[in-house]
Amino acid sequence: MEHRSTRLATTAWYPALTRTAPISPVQPGVVPGPPASPLDPKIRLVGVAKRFDSRGRIVEAVRETTLEIPDGQFACLVGPSGCGKTTLLRIVAGLETPTAGSIDVRRSGGDRPLNSLIFQQESLFPWKTVWDNVEFGLRVRNVPRSERRARTEEWLRKVGLLRFASSYPYQLSGGMKQRVSIARAFALDPEILLMDEPFAALDQQTKLLLQEELLQLWGDARKTVLFVTHNIDEAVVLGDRVIVMTAHPGRIKAEVAVELGRPRDPMEIRSDPRYLELTQEIWHHLRDEVLLARDQEESGVE
Ligand SMILES: Nc1ncnc2c1ncn2[C@@H]1O[C@H](COP(=O)(O)OP(=O)(O)OP(=O)(O)O)[C@@H](O)[C@H]1O
Ligand SMILES: [Mg+2]
Repeated sequence: MEHRSTRLATTAWYPALTRTAPISPVQPGVVPGPPASPLDPKIRLVGVAKRFDSRGRIVEAVRETTLEIPDGQFACLVGPSGCGKTTLLRIVAGLETPTAGSIDVRRSGGDRPLNSLIFQQESLFPWKTVWDNVEFGLRVRNVPRSERRARTEEWLRKVGLLRFASSYPYQLSGGMKQRVSIARAFALDPEILLMDEPFAALDQQTKLLLQEELLQLWGDARKTVLFVTHNIDEAVVLGDRVIVMTAHPGRIKAEVAVELGRPRDPMEIRSDPRYLELTQEIWHHLRDEVLLARDQEESGVE
């Protein structure tokens, strides 16, 4: 069991092109922590804060945040626009360095990448085919050719896009592109999936389908997921737990456990009275923050 502990790390070691974060045993800014126990959370943030200094103007993006996510949990993060959700996700990914606090991500060993990110915006290589996009991360990780092929084929089949293996991203719809991103992330078999509003840009029907597909894929793989969304419905349907952030500068305001059982049929869940209670409870926590964020926007607070 290996343990990664990052304390005020100064170097972004993440290969921006692949948007996956393979962590070698020795990384700049990553220092070995105490031996991990299987009972430790998969992700632990203690007093994490982030300020950006953009040309002398200080922006407090995340205020003291303490959070633990157990192994295999599907955690959803909701909060008003600009409250620091993406920043928090990027800190967990190792793409941003916190200005205060510490973050520990427990590795379970082996050669798997620690995390893989799926973004809201398109993040496929436009000059590569669907197949090459999915295979790329495996290539970077020096996965042997035959295994690369098998995994690429397996995940393209699972997301229903094997037929489009030789197409280019511009030939696909928005939903198909996000399915390629999902296949690419899962094919890497990361320990943690970090998803930043992956379905936000899609139409409602495509979104519903992809939510169902994601639930199925996650049900098989049971990865630890941190999923950012603006959508309360999505958070309840997908998550084991919903973490509500305050308006900017973001910190955790409330947590709601989604005790709806698994496997889930999203349509059945939506007609469950507990679904209504949960969405109301989350909105109760979120409403004031959304109003505050709107006021901030109008008055130009940063
Ligand atoms: N690199 C940066 N430099 C300066 N300020 C930044 C930077 N990245 C984010 N910020 C600021 O930090 C705050 C939080 O941004 P972040 O993108 O994390 O919010 P968010 O909750 O993801 O918003 P949204 O819901 O709109 O995606 C914002 O005020 C943003 O302008
Ligand atoms: Mg964001």
